[in-house]
Amino acid sequence: MNILRNCWLRFLLWEVNAIMPEKVSLQPHERCTCAHDEAAVPSEIVLEVKNLTKKFTVDGGKMLTACDNVSLHAYRGQTLGIIGESGCGKSTLVRTILQIHPATAGEVIFEGQDILMLKGEALRQNRRKIQMVFQDPSAAFNPKMRVKDILCEPLLNFGLLKNSEIDAKAAELLQMVELPAEFKDRYPHSMSGGQRQRLGIARALSLEPQIIVCDEATSALDVSVQEKICELLVRLQKEKGITYLFICHDIGLVDLMSHQVAVMYLGNVVELLEQGRLSVDGAHPYTRALIKSIFKVDFKPGEKIQPLEGDIPSPLDLPQGCPFQSRCDLCQAVCREVKPELRELHEGHFVACHFVK
Ligand SMILES: Nc1ncnc2c1ncn2[C@@H]1O[C@H](COP(=O)(O)OP(=O)(O)O)[C@@H](O)[C@H]1O
Ligand code: SF4
Ligand SMILES: [Mg+2]
Repeated sequence: MNILRNCWLRFLLWEVNAIMPEKVSLQPHERCTCAHDEAAVPSEIVLEVKNLTKKFTVDGGKMLTACDNVSLHAYRGQTLGIIGESGCGKSTLVRTILQIHPATAGEVIFEGQDILMLKGEALRQNRRKIQMVFQDPSAAFNPKMRVKDILCEPLLNFGLLKNSEIDAKAAELLQMVELPAEFKDRYPHSMSGGQRQRLGIARALSLEPQIIVCDEATSALDVSVQEKICELLVRLQKEKGITYLFICHDIGLVDLMSHQVAVMYLGNVVELLEQGRLSVDGAHPYTRALIKSIFKVDFKPGEKIQPLEGDIPSPLDLPQGCPFQSRCDLCQAVCREVKPELRELHEGHFVACHFVK
């Protein structure tokens, strides 16, 4: 099972691309057990994001558009992967869904209501159902708390556990993430990065959420540890029917883990694929450029990585028309005038480009 090793190598190759005249080739890999079940058909929609916009007011009172009219949906028990270069708005999108940032406009429909309208106790209760796993879980842990208290704190806060039940519950949660029950009396600093990430997942699981947002949750881990965490996430999804919003800069890993993939560029979703694989079916010029800019396992002789060139426009000054125009080889006059809407190319495949057919 070499995919995560390959993903890591792809990332390294992406990073060093500018100074590497020749690229190394890897053998095609076996399918990883963290791959999603391709036979899975879209089930019930569990979360629907409608025209979500988030603007930040930054220095000098200027408006920075981090998410621009984003519409998406996630299915129960499936993974919606979100990719795009750094700064394209992935974290802002999920943080706005979670109301860590107040939305500027739009709706997030969950259980039949717009959760962006929730306030006070209703908002607090809703937070039980959508949990987040961070890139650095230890930053969210109080280093003076033992593992069992970290794990059970959310349940105690919601009045769902008695003090006398802490030890048993902590052991149960640790078992879910394949950590020994004895870890309950440890402190997080005595655990490895992978073990702390398992702890973060167990804490997120404690409230039995329907949705878990993983924002670069595996990105800081060594590749072998990342592999195990991804396998754990897939197993938990199959057992508990959890929906993941999975953000990761590794396109290969997102493509493998996700049932649907959304590609973001400058705060916009420019492609959404519900069926098939992004690496094969991705059609938007930005998606194609992203795919060509990374190493892939089936390189043909003479084929090279083509780095994405050109600067991303400032989110403080979004261009009229297509957000990708300044970097697109296919750009024509209409692209500078009219912003392309996300439209359905084939069933379950949406692209925002005037020319992709
Ligand atoms: N709290 C904030 N205040 C102002 N600007 C922000 C804030 N958070 C993110 N941004 C800006 O929003 C844009 C999207 O950022 P982010 O969502 O973190 O992107 P990504 O997660 O894709 O790397 C960036 O231009 C970033 O600088
Ligand atoms: S709309 Fe025009 S600029 Fe935008 S991606 Fe398509 S061809 Fe390129
Ligand atoms: Mg981010």
